[in-house]
Amino acid sequence: MEYNDKQIAAQEAVKHIKDGMVIGIGSGSTVNEFLYCLAYRIKEEGLQVVGIPASKKSEQLATKLGIPLTTFASYQYVDIAIDGTDEIDEQLDLVKGGGGSLVREKMIDLIAETFIVIASGEKKVRKLGTFSVPVEVVPFGWQATEQRLQEFGCLTKLRLSNGEIFVSDNQNYIIDCDFKKIDEAEALHASLKQIVGVIETGIFTHMVDKAIIADNGQITVLEK
Ligand code: A5P
Repeated sequence: MEYNDKQIAAQEAVKHIKDGMVIGIGSGSTVNEFLYCLAYRIKEEGLQVVGIPASKKSEQLATKLGIPLTTFASYQYVDIAIDGTDEIDEQLDLVKGGGGSLVREKMIDLIAETFIVIASGEKKVRKLGTFSVPVEVVPFGWQATEQRLQEFGCLTKLRLSNGEIFVSDNQNYIIDCDFKKIDEAEALHASLKQIVGVIETGIFTHMVDKAIIADNGQITVLEK
């Protein structure tokens, strides 16, 4: 059987899972592949783990696959987080949130003892910003928040889904901000966070411990 790059990265990532771990489960199609690999190990090897999912979609798939889940109410730590990305640069900084789960993903990825990002090769970029930065905002006054975001020189778009305003798992809106190219990702994130009404941005800097990237079947492992 031929595996695609997302599956190959996921197969490599699941090797890092050990008995007893609390696993942060990100979101997206690459993470879904990881969930299939994890479910296989649980079934075949009797691996004992629990997962904290970053999205309702991940929660649903994990439940369907029989992966035991928990919440921060039971564990206030994460041993290892496995998550996908929309962009990854040479410093292993990311733009995430294409699926709209950036807040919970960032909470999980940040708290994790080890954060491993898994991606197919086309996610690699020299500079972040080609992918619009998702910014989760409070629904109240989103139009005013959007204007403040535009002052940072980006083109903005309120995210829609099937013609309706997209609502995140946290009941917020997402404004996608097209910067074309980001020179100072950390500083930009810090400035955007100052806007009242902004909850979180999809810029993830200095968080990744290891990146597993599969490009045309070839795995590259990058460490911070
Ligand atoms: C979800 O909100 C995102 O951060 C995902 O991690 C990202 O969009 C990657 O998704 P894929 O694995 O589907 O490319």
